[in-house]
Amino acid sequence: MKQLIFIFGVFLFLISCNQPHEEKSSKVGLDGWLEGTSEEKFEEVAHQLGGFSKTMVEVGYRYSELYWAGIDENWGYADHQIEHIIEAMEDGLKRRPVRVESAKDFMEETLPYMEELLEKKDKEEFLKGFQVFTSACNACHAKEGESAIMIQIPLNRTSPVRF
Ligand code: HEC
Repeated sequence: MKQLIFIFGVFLFLISCNQPHEEKSSKVGLDGWLEGTSEEKFEEVAHQLGGFSKTMVEVGYRYSELYWAGIDENWGYADHQIEHIIEAMEDGLKRRPVRVESAKDFMEETLPYMEELLEKKDKEEFLKGFQVFTSACNACHAKEGESAIMIQIPLNRTSPVRF
């Protein structure tokens, strides 16, 4: 009997979970800080996360930091940047799968190439490799019809990180 009551309880619980939660939560801050139905909230979160442009702003920053890390021979910081470039690219491509095809060489060849290069901890080799890296950025921009966004070796430091 106890078992039956338990099963019935679980059944009721599952049914209640299945109820659509489409009612508007009118008060902001009641169950978060977004208004609207769950679907509207998801759409708003997706919009706020942004598309590939946001990914690229992050990659652009990390690309520069990677360069200055190499100049400083701060290989720990360089590793940090390449890891986060990979992560940012992976997340960005999940949000914008339409870019996956153009990014294929960059993801499968260029990024592993830079990772291996950093393991050598050799500044001269790094500087040559960084040119290759930069060309790969521009190759994808060309494929995506974004040739106006021309990436060139950074001229100035913009972050306070020094070694
Ligand atoms: C998918 C291939 C692809 C690769 C690889 C790529 N980009 Fe981009 N990049 C784009 C696209 C597409 C845009 C335009 C995004 C938009 O406006 O939605 C862009 C835009 C940019 C922008 C302008 C962002 C802004 O809105 O201000 C910068 C900076 C940038 N990329 C840097 C880089 C750097 C640095 C690399 C290499 C480390 C790189 N990108 C590699 C596709 C790529």
